[in-house]
Order: sequence, then structure tokens, then C-alpha cells
Amino acid sequence: MAVNLTINRVPVTVPEGTTILDAAKEVGIKIPTLCHLEGVGSPGSCRVCLVEVQGARTLQPSCVTKVGQGMVVCTNSKIAREARQLSVELLLANHPWDCNACVRNNKCELQTLASEMGITEVRFPYTKEQLPIDDSTPALIRDNNKCILCRRCVSVCQDVQGVGSLAPRLRGFDTIIGTGAGEKLSDAVCVQCGQCSTVCPVGAIYEKDAIEDVWKALDDPTKHVVVQTAPAIRAALGECFGLKPGTCVTGKMVTALRRMGFDKVFDTNFTADLTIIEEGHELLTRLKDALVDKKEVALPMFTSCSPGWINFMEYFYPEIIPNISTCKSPQQMFGALAKTYYAQKEGIDPKNIVVVSVMPCTAKKFECSRDEMNSSGFKDVDFVLTTRELGRMITEAGLDFLNLPDGEQDSPMGMSTGAADIFANTGGVMEAAIRTVYEVVTGRQLPMDGLHIKPIQGLKGLKEVSLTFTDCVPDWKFLEGVTAKVAVAHGLSNARKICDIVAAGNKPGYHFIEVMCCPGGCIGGGGQPLFTTDEVRKARIKAIYKEDEHRPMRKSHENPAITQIYKEFLGKPLGHKSHELLHTHYHKKEKK
Ligand code: FES
Repeated sequence: MAVNLTINRVPVTVPEGTTILDAAKEVGIKIPTLCHLEGVGSPGSCRVCLVEVQGARTLQPSCVTKVGQGMVVCTNSKIAREARQLSVELLLANHPWDCNACVRNNKCELQTLASEMGITEVRFPYTKEQLPIDDSTPALIRDNNKCILCRRCVSVCQDVQGVGSLAPRLRGFDTIIGTGAGEKLSDAVCVQCGQCSTVCPVGAIYEKDAIEDVWKALDDPTKHVVVQTAPAIRAALGECFGLKPGTCVTGKMVTALRRMGFDKVFDTNFTADLTIIEEGHELLTRLKDALVDKKEVALPMFTSCSPGWINFMEYFYPEIIPNISTCKSPQQMFGALAKTYYAQKEGIDPKNIVVVSVMPCTAKKFECSRDEMNSSGFKDVDFVLTTRELGRMITEAGLDFLNLPDGEQDSPMGMSTGAADIFANTGGVMEAAIRTVYEVVTGRQLPMDGLHIKPIQGLKGLKEVSLTFTDCVPDWKFLEGVTAKVAVAHGLSNARKICDIVAAGNKPGYHFIEVMCCPGGCIGGGGQPLFTTDEVRKARIKAIYKEDEHRPMRKSHENPAITQIYKEFLGKPLGHKSHELLHTHYHKKEKK
């Protein structure tokens, strides 16, 4: 039913159930907000969005108050403006005034609100007791001194990711946001995805910065520093420099990295293509073992590229460890090959090679520090920067990013196909795998205009598609007439749903499942520029598919650098060397 009301004397008609905040947006009236975040929730705790509603006894929080028939709302009366100002002042009174030294300086919502409301001084004394900073994980830092108790991190961790690591603790003035028993984050059930850091309006949760370590390596003449950039970086980095979401900046990013001093600018896309070859063969081998040799095989097989998902699985579903592909993530495959294959090829002592990754993901910082990730004989990946950190480094380096000429990645570990580009988004790994598996099994080429698999694209939480093999080549004849069923999940609350389906007997009969930890996949990762709404996700995904569509090669098995690495170094997919360098194992993690 339509509801008619007036806001600041402007008539507005909206559907029943709309909040005053959204109704005001319809007629171009902006009401300030802080705890409310689109797509995450409105705890209604900050009182920054108070408005006057005629006849109501008190001012109403517009983010949670629904419109009513004939309602008369005033957002800019003296009493509403002063109440909102007071809410912000009270938050500022409990907040350290060290903005210049804060990671969120100029990107802080509290700072912006204070400026927009004309607050230049705070009338109340700072009385907050100094709280310890938690830097116990390799990925994230929590500084409760800056926390404004908006609870956005609690909502995203609980409702979007289904992890529930953070919650309000203690009561009244002592309330803080913390882990269940107040333990350090490293001792809590935290998957280190960093989604909390992307919704925090201030500097209370942020990525553990590797910028100084990377500058130090670049400044060291004895070190050969190579960089890899994940597929999702190119569709988001431009946002750090004011470009619209969905602007691809691959060429400028390469030039910036070269001018910052990296010896080689490579691409994680190279090992994304390699992942398809290894993972595709792993799936086909499992299917052969099950269908031909009638062996007990763990199916469906799950993808393993997303370290936040792997952490989640190790905590919540360790019983499906045998179902997880043993392939390392493309980041870790790259590190292992940079310090073996590339080192040998170039005659560089691997102890002098420093591998830097630029990732959309804070969990990648954790992943590179796992004990298993040293198969080269060294730490395979030395440092991980998020997209946000790379943005800050480019600014520190004084580069005029927007006017940089386009550069190209170095060979051979910079060569890739469109299939690798689409790893950046939900459904992309599956689509890339299907492109290759279909051609390998049938020997037939897919038409260039028939590469997209629409049912597994887009932001629906769970997606699936079936594929029947016909006219298979002799090696894969056992798949003749077999219908493979695949599923895709993104965001860990959706991962939980698919894991429960599999644990309950896999009724739909899935063979292969892609899981990405973050909503939208890596394009919505915890290390991406702020803020990632669904509109931003869609724009970045569009850019990634455009990048894929403009490539001369769009299937991983067409990448000549991949053929070359098997010929020169690895031997064959799933061979001895591949197992040594490109595959791994997982552990059950204890929940405390
Ligand atoms: Fe409405 Fe916080 S934004 S109460």
C-alpha cells in the first residue's frame, strides 16, 4: 500500500514499510547517519539521524522509523539539528582527537559528520580509559579507543558472514565491542576476512599495514622484489584516486608499481590460469575414481582459493576437509613458483627474492603466514598489501596516478587469459573451470560468444547450473552422458547454507562447488576501497567481465606461459612437482 506523507513540506509517496530515511532520499533530502549501513543493517544506536515527527513525544531515529499515512516530518528544525549535533558531540567526547595520525584520516565518517555539522569544539571532557590495542592477528588491528559502538562490525560478522566473532560486551558506559570472552582476535573464532574493517565508519578496525616492510625491501639493493596483483585489484584501485567504481586501471597500476621500484611486475592471473589446470584435473580425477574405479571419493569438490572460506571451513565444517581441493590459492602458487621456477630461470638466489602480493583481501595476510606456505624452502609470499594500502603507497610515492601511461606486465608470470580475470567475482572460478573442462573433455571449442554461464553470474547468494557431457574424447569417454551439477556461494552465511546441504547428504547431487568468503567474491573483499555497496559490487563485476571480453585468449588452457611452465618445469598437472609446490593440506581448527 502506498503511504503519503510530507518531509520538510515536500509531499512524498512511498510503499508501506519504507523508513523515513529512505523516503527522504526519494525527494533528495539527506539525513545524516552513522550506525546505519545499506545492505548491512540499522541497529538504531547512534541517534545521529534524529528527525522531528509531528505529534510524536520524542525525536525519532529516521533509519528505523517507518513512514505513516499523513505523517509530517521535519528534518531541519532547530530541535532536530541540535539533537543530531549533540549526538555527534557526545561521540567525539569519547573519541581520541588524533585524526592526523589515524589510518582513516579524511575517510572517517565521524570526522565528515563533525565537519558537515559545523562542530569545531567539543563541550565535554574526554574521560575514557585507555584500552589496549589488539594487533594479535596477521591481518587486522582493533583499536577500541576509537570505537563508537555503532555495531556495524557486529552485524556484518554475524548476519552477513555468519561467524559471530564480535559482540557488545559489558554494560552501560563500560560497553565495548569485543570477542565472546574478551580474548584476543587471534584466539577467537575469526576468519580474518576483514569485512568488519570495510564497514567500520572510523579507525577502530583496520588492516595490519605492510607498507613500511615493502618500502624497506624496495630500498634494499640486495633484494629482487617482484609483485603480483590479484584479478580484483584492477577493477577497484582507481576508486582510491576518485575514479568511479567499475573503472579498470590495469595499465596505470602496472606503471605505478614499476615506478615505485618493483623489479618485476607480474600477475596473480597467471597462477589463476594455472589453478584452473590443476583444479580441473583434480576434479576430473575424482570423477574418474568415483565413476570408473568405483572408489570412495570425496565429492562434491569445493574450491580453495579464498583463505577466509578455508578458515571458516576449518573452524565450522572440518568434516568436509577431504572435499576441499588441495590446490593452493593463486597467491600462494605464485609465491612458490617465484622462488623456484622464476629464480632458476633468471639465475637469482631465491633467498634474495622478495614476493609482494597486492590482494583485495585481509585474510591473504593470514594465508601467507600459514606454516604450510613455504614449499619453495622460504616463506613463499613475504608481504601482502591490500588495495587500500597500495593506494596509500602510490600517493606516498607522489605518483600522479590518473595521468600515468598504461604499462604491461612482465613475462612469463604476467601472462594470463580472460578466464583468470573473472576469478575476481562470484561464479568466476566456476565459469573459468567450465570453459576449460568442457573443451578438454569434448575436444570441441566453445564459441567466443558462448563463454558466459549466466545462471552462476550475479549477486544471488546461492547459484547452480548443470552441464551434460556429450561426444567426449577417448580419454574422458567415461563422462559420456554424465550431467555435472555445480553450485556457487559467496558470503559466509551462504557458504554455511551450502555446507549444511552437503552435510545433510548432498541431495541435489552437486559435483563441484565454488565458495568465496566475501559478498560478491574478491571484488567485495575486506581490503578493497571503502565503501562496498551492492551497486559498487555490480560496477566492479561489470568491469571485470569487460576486461575478460576484450582479451584475445579467454580460456586458461590457451595461456602459452602455462604450457611453457609445464614443459620447462612442472612436468604435468598433478605431477610430483605440482604436488610439492602447488598443493597443500588443511587442519581442523579448535573453537574456543
Ligand atoms: Fe539512525 Fe544511527 S543512523 S540511529
